[in-house]
Amino acid sequence: MTDFRDPSLPIEQRIDDLLARLTLPEKVGQMLILDAREDLTDAIVHRHAGAILHTSPELLPVAHAMAAEQRLAIPLLVAEDGIHGHSFWPGATIFGTQLAMAGSWDPALIEKAARVTASEMAATGMHWTFSPVLCISRDLRWGRVDETFGEDPYLLSVLGAAMVRGYQGDGLTDPEAVLACAKHFAGYSETQGGRDASEADMTPRKLRSWFLPPFEAAVRAGSGTVMIGYQSMDGVPITASRWLLNDVLKGEWGFDGMLVTDWDNVGRMVWEQQICADIAEAAAVAVRAGNDLVMTTPSFFEGAQEAVARGLITEADIDEAVRRVLRTKFRLGLFEDPRHPDLARQAAIGNAERAELNLQIARRSLVLLRNDGTLPFAPDGLGRSPRIAVIGPNADDPQAMLGDWAGNSGQVPWLPDGQPREMIDTVLDGFRELAGPHWQVDYALGAEIGELHPDPAGDSFADGQPRPPIFVAAAADPALIAEAVAAAEASDLAVVVVGDTVALNGETRSTATLDLQGGQLALLDAVVATGTPTVVVLVQGKPSTLPASALEAAAIIEAFNPGMRGGRA
Ligand code: NOJ
Repeated sequence: MTDFRDPSLPIEQRIDDLLARLTLPEKVGQMLILDAREDLTDAIVHRHAGAILHTSPELLPVAHAMAAEQRLAIPLLVAEDGIHGHSFWPGATIFGTQLAMAGSWDPALIEKAARVTASEMAATGMHWTFSPVLCISRDLRWGRVDETFGEDPYLLSVLGAAMVRGYQGDGLTDPEAVLACAKHFAGYSETQGGRDASEADMTPRKLRSWFLPPFEAAVRAGSGTVMIGYQSMDGVPITASRWLLNDVLKGEWGFDGMLVTDWDNVGRMVWEQQICADIAEAAAVAVRAGNDLVMTTPSFFEGAQEAVARGLITEADIDEAVRRVLRTKFRLGLFEDPRHPDLARQAAIGNAERAELNLQIARRSLVLLRNDGTLPFAPDGLGRSPRIAVIGPNADDPQAMLGDWAGNSGQVPWLPDGQPREMIDTVLDGFRELAGPHWQVDYALGAEIGELHPDPAGDSFADGQPRPPIFVAAAADPALIAEAVAAAEASDLAVVVVGDTVALNGETRSTATLDLQGGQLALLDAVVATGTPTVVVLVQGKPSTLPASALEAAAIIEAFNPGMRGGRA
């Protein structure tokens, strides 16, 4: 007799058997990925959720135990945003952002980075990373430029496929592998004015020539999953686009993996995009368009069942989606081995060999935009010990080296102090480590950038939608600038590290200007005016416009967020 637990049977047969045993609520539950920071019992026991995300190290064993007690003990699929490293695991190897690593033009190195991330995630019981990002950066005001490989569809295709190979290793049953997720399908970055998650101006030709090729490359490289974006195109939320999700992705490209929505995409069709009257309608629209797994819309559980009851969709439509979810779990071999955290393998997380690879990648990734010959700095012949002034708000800010999706960048609560300080080389650390024994390295902050404040207009807009915080730039501080100028004047080389902060990057954080914020412009002008040869190092999520004084600097290095070893690099 067929039994889905029998590993000798072909996967499709096991799925048929399991599907036949599931009740409608259990099937709908398999279509849910819910937030483990919320009520786990509600998710796993009451809504039968088949997958979870944002699970703290402490809660993961609890979640597995809960799933194992359910009627058919279907293993949980555990996902996390391992975006440029195992982002929220204390002590993981955090590489430069995708934008930083793109500067290496080196798919082999990027594949190695993804391999390390996969291995660190797998050891901690994660099965799936929401990476790589294959959005194209064409409007730099958008807040998620740092997550992309830049603006060239060909480069994106090559580097994205490399990351997929790195994550998925020798195949999904490889214990060192995690599922990759090509996101955000497709056109998400093309929203008007760079405003996150809104309406994208897209034509079929633009989509086909620029936005789809990187996804097609990722699918051909075997990406097990694809995540959709938040945007609408021509007024149609991507969540409802049967043409793109079903006809192109699953039809033309033959994608037989699992398609996941982004955060509450289904609910958004009711409360944000307002194209559906209620959650049952939204559930029906999402299922009919070809979405398989629904992220963090708990009410999809009731909505989808009601949609079946109202005849908006059939149980067979639900079966199609559940089949893809279960296929993913069978392909990972979770029914044989639910891949719990493995303490022994965790010993390798963040080890010296990986830190060395990280350094190598950071070195290959930095971009020298300008150099009048001052670099490499060769102090021989000075007749005395050289002095270097390392200056600027990002000269000694460990969080700025890592950027978004790392440690305390705001997505999870369990790393309030970020990744361990001692694993991160800031630019100041790099100079202190590498300076000769008699060199003098001075440091001056020079300027603050600014921070986020609640919008005085209130928490929400008139229609109840949340109002994001606003960025308040710091004023230039004459005392800080004077200190920096004194340090530069006393030195043979000034290194000014400017850029932005995570407050200016990320979801909903679109910016209206690309100018350096806070006291940084005044700082750059003042340091360059000292006449001391000045190297400008840009540590930032995305390109900034630079003031005229930067053109008088001896050298300019674009580092973006270069990762834990970036300062040393
Ligand atoms: C929303 C983001 O847009 C997406 O990139 C991310 O993977 C999910 N949240 C899960 O954190």
